[in-house]
Amino acid sequence: MPADKVNVRVFLGADHAGFKLKENIRQWLKERGVEFVDLGVYSAEPVDYPAYAERVAREVGNAGEGKALGVLACGTGIGMGMAANKVRGVRAAVCHDEFTAEMARAHNNANLLCLGARVLQTGGEALKIVERFLETGFSAEERHGRRVKMIYGLETRKPKQAAKKRAKK
Ligand code: RB5
Repeated sequence: MPADKVNVRVFLGADHAGFKLKENIRQWLKERGVEFVDLGVYSAEPVDYPAYAERVAREVGNAGEGKALGVLACGTGIGMGMAANKVRGVRAAVCHDEFTAEMARAHNNANLLCLGARVLQTGGEALKIVERFLETGFSAEERHGRRVKMIYGLETRKPKQAAKKRAKK
């Protein structure tokens, strides 16, 4: 994958379970000349994954739409995904294969990929998922844009407004 296919900055993070995978991804991005920022961890010492999810998620959420992507690794990808999705502007997707990575970008406009280092082979398989995620763009089809806007509505609309909207129908 040529670096010019990835025109945004990539933020990387992991806990101890995802450390080795994160290091592999880091090397892989470096070899391809992709601009990235490694937000830790920097060793396999046990840490709490929400702290690293937050670091990456805040960067991606604050960067603005289409300006950054994130990749997080933990044991299953699940904890990172749960934590990252609490941050405004973040659409984190746990992907276990290339198909889900492609769909997460094309249909859901995911901006943060969560990987399970204890689920995937940390070599080729995981790197292929990262590659597919980074090289896929959001679909131009109206229905996907509409649905992603509805997801954004969940974090911006007050519950009362949502209830009113339902009552009107
Ligand atoms: C750490 O043992 C593990 O719980 C964590 O990496 C992750 O899988 C959480 O979702």
